[in-house]
Amino acid sequence: MARRRFAARLHHVGLAATSLLAACGGSDLPAGGAEPLADGTFARIQRSIIEPGCAGCHRSGSSDARQSGLVLSADSSWQQLVGVVSVQPLARADGLLRVKPFRADSSLLYHKLAWIPGHHSRDYGNVMPMGTLQGLSMGQLEYVRRWIEAGAPRTGHVVDTLVLRDVRTQVASFSPLAPPPAGAGLQLVVDSFPVPPRNERELFVYRPLGNTSELFVNRIESRMRPGSHHFLLYSFDASRTTFPCNVRPAPNLVRDLRTADGVPIAINLLPMACHVFFAGAMTSEFDYRFPPGVALRLPPNAALDLNAHYVNRSPATFPGQAMANLYTVPRAQVQTVATTLNLGNTSFTLPPRQRTTVRTEFRNPTRLTVLALTSHMHALGERFEIRLRRANGSESTVYVNTDWEHPAFTNFPTPLVLEPGDALVSVVTYNNVTDRSVGFGLLSTDEMNIIFGYAY
Ligand code: HEC
Repeated sequence: MARRRFAARLHHVGLAATSLLAACGGSDLPAGGAEPLADGTFARIQRSIIEPGCAGCHRSGSSDARQSGLVLSADSSWQQLVGVVSVQPLARADGLLRVKPFRADSSLLYHKLAWIPGHHSRDYGNVMPMGTLQGLSMGQLEYVRRWIEAGAPRTGHVVDTLVLRDVRTQVASFSPLAPPPAGAGLQLVVDSFPVPPRNERELFVYRPLGNTSELFVNRIESRMRPGSHHFLLYSFDASRTTFPCNVRPAPNLVRDLRTADGVPIAINLLPMACHVFFAGAMTSEFDYRFPPGVALRLPPNAALDLNAHYVNRSPATFPGQAMANLYTVPRAQVQTVATTLNLGNTSFTLPPRQRTTVRTEFRNPTRLTVLALTSHMHALGERFEIRLRRANGSESTVYVNTDWEHPAFTNFPTPLVLEPGDALVSVVTYNNVTDRSVGFGLLSTDEMNIIFGYAY
């Protein structure tokens, strides 16, 4: 149903034709076992690849570490990589481990580091290191690959360091997504904008679709320039009729969430309180198709708020840019109109200085087919779990998110069917580290508790 491809379209530049990989000699195997363990192959990967290029994001407590579940500090990286199951649903489904000893092709780490064109047929998230337009050198990539093929040991010298002499770099490239053919849909774009060096930018653009009659969307495809953290499309909750939800943002204006110094721009934060998830992706490429005969309806004169978040860890400015194609079908081809789920709890209290888990049941009076789920909480939220509770009381977890800033979007290849009396249950754990009681509210210092998704 959903066809997903790998994140970025990338290629490497070939510089030197000389293949140093084929050269012989120059092993880093210790001459007489004299070298300390700290100089082994993995120690070199840690020191020369992970510490300079990865550990800044993958550090304990960071948003990146929460999203990836991966801390790459010297004392934890081997344990967290080797033999460990990935947090990526597709990588898990394909039987990959982060590092599977002796099998680079079954190791997510290798796939994340290889920017080679045509390398990726499956979407395992962004290529690494994220937030830069340059990947590892071909030599470094080969060094990691051979380390895995040699069993990925924590200590010992198992790869010839001569491979590192291949200094050709992998470079990101980007080709914009072509709009749907005439009559087949429309394209929404966040135009190219500069992301300053060692900084980030998150912004919104409210785009009127220009449709005079209703639209039925059966496929949503998006693409972002490399370096993006996420790209989301929101509509507005029409049932909220008080300020600020009775005011729509000015159309086609770029609204930054923070100044270059990181200070929140309050007026631009306000509309976020009224958003309803429409579509979105955490990866550079995304393609969601509704099942045959199913489509989302957009009313005449619809508009969507586009949200792009870019992180630039490099020393030079690079451009951010994102585009989404909404493919439409004639009304006559739609047997079932899907809706966006919007199941929120607005009455909960989080006492100060403690963890609280809020459980909310949304019982279903009719049959409901759930195609995809995502969630919304704010900064105190640590874990958002969605469970499917059957009328007989049995419960199973169908969705988990641990990064409030970048909620997972889980698409069910086999839809979840809720019979009357079954319920979707949100189980949200908050850690209220503040000195005041916190409840539902629209400000970023308040909390939220909403299940979003597609269903019919
Ligand atoms: C700008 C921050 C950033 C940098 C730099 C970065 N990462 Fe990541 N990494 C992330 C985020 C965010 C995710 C989760 C999203 C994704 O996979 O697309 C992730 C996911 C991963 C995963 C997948 C974990 C899993 O279980 O699915 C691996 C492996 C990984 N990174 C390795 C690396 C390595 C190795 C480097 C350095 C060469 C690196 N990362 C640099 C932010 C970063």
